Amino acid sequence: MNKQIAVIKGDGIGPEIVDEALRVLDRIGEKYGHQFTYTYVDAGGCAIDKYGEPLPEESVQKCLASDSVLLGAVGGPKWDALDGAMRPERALLGIRSRLGLFSNIRPSKLFAPLASACPLKQEIVNQGLDLVIVRELIGGAYFGKRETLMTEGGKTSYDTMIYSEKEVERIVRVAFDMARKRRGKVTSVDKANVLESSRLWREVAHRVAAEYPDVEFADMLVDNTAMQLVRNPSQFDVIVTENMFGDILSDEASMITGSIGMIPSSSLGEGTRGMYEPIHGSAPDIAGQNKANPIATILSVAMMLKYSFDMEAESADIENAVEAVLREGYRTGDIMDEGGVLLGCREMGDKIISKL
Ligand code: IPM
Ligand code: MG
Repeated sequence: MNKQIAVIKGDGIGPEIVDEALRVLDRIGEKYGHQFTYTYVDAGGCAIDKYGEPLPEESVQKCLASDSVLLGAVGGPKWDALDGAMRPERALLGIRSRLGLFSNIRPSKLFAPLASACPLKQEIVNQGLDLVIVRELIGGAYFGKRETLMTEGGKTSYDTMIYSEKEVERIVRVAFDMARKRRGKVTSVDKANVLESSRLWREVAHRVAAEYPDVEFADMLVDNTAMQLVRNPSQFDVIVTENMFGDILSDEASMITGSIGMIPSSSLGEGTRGMYEPIHGSAPDIAGQNKANPIATILSVAMMLKYSFDMEAESADIENAVEAVLREGYRTGDIMDEGGVLLGCREMGDKIISKL
């Protein structure tokens, strides 16, 4: 197969982790007879430096013209003082919304060889930790009306958390379809005891649930979910929730695996074109030092092969290669443990490629 991939290296450790992921992809192409071609796209802080804006229209067009998008990470202290609309993060939000990527899938799974990195008690870990957060990505407070005005109390700002039935329904369906392929359980997370948008969310979730009698279904309030994730994460299979709750819970869910540097994500819309990225940030403190962990980006490529290109075997091949390298004790600094062999970003890429 021939696939055109828009590549956004971004800022901080973005370029080095993406380079390793592309080398893995090239190896897969060679092994399975596919041709992957890359179009490099500027977005984030580096685009601000070059063009004075985080997401030039040309970058959006390049993404729209591709079969899929791979992103490293954007942002850094250099651009922190900029106005909201000009921050590097705007690039991410812009791509998500312009490409219609409403469904963000964030798996949290304990890698057996890294079990000791998990900060939870052994008896909790033993019950298993393998869940997926399905996060609505282009609605809610991130995209609702916002404003800062002058009032008697001084500057006053608001953001609006807004959802339509249609927006809720399409993401809840993604969760139910996914649960059918996993352990058959959906937990819909909201704050329906307080928020009107959550009451609508809950109403629609129940309506969709009725169409999937084979899938176990429960509602859970977001504060309780935050607590249950550390108390008893094995109760969860698929969690579906709105944009901001999903942002927060997915960081928590990744941290309980002990290795945020290992977790990939996919963002998809109606079609097969998606954006794939690690869930960690640009880690400016270690950028350019060959210290970053490229695994989350490499696993993001594995997700791209599976979800956008229907290449199941190729995807599994990458996942198995990563597992094998970890089992042999190779580690980057963030997941280093006693007895581990410390590798740099490039060397970790080499090791994984050697298994393919
Ligand atoms: C994420 C990030 C982004 C988000 C930021 C960088 C805009 O935290 O992908 O989780 O909040 O969606
Ligand atoms: Mg986040």
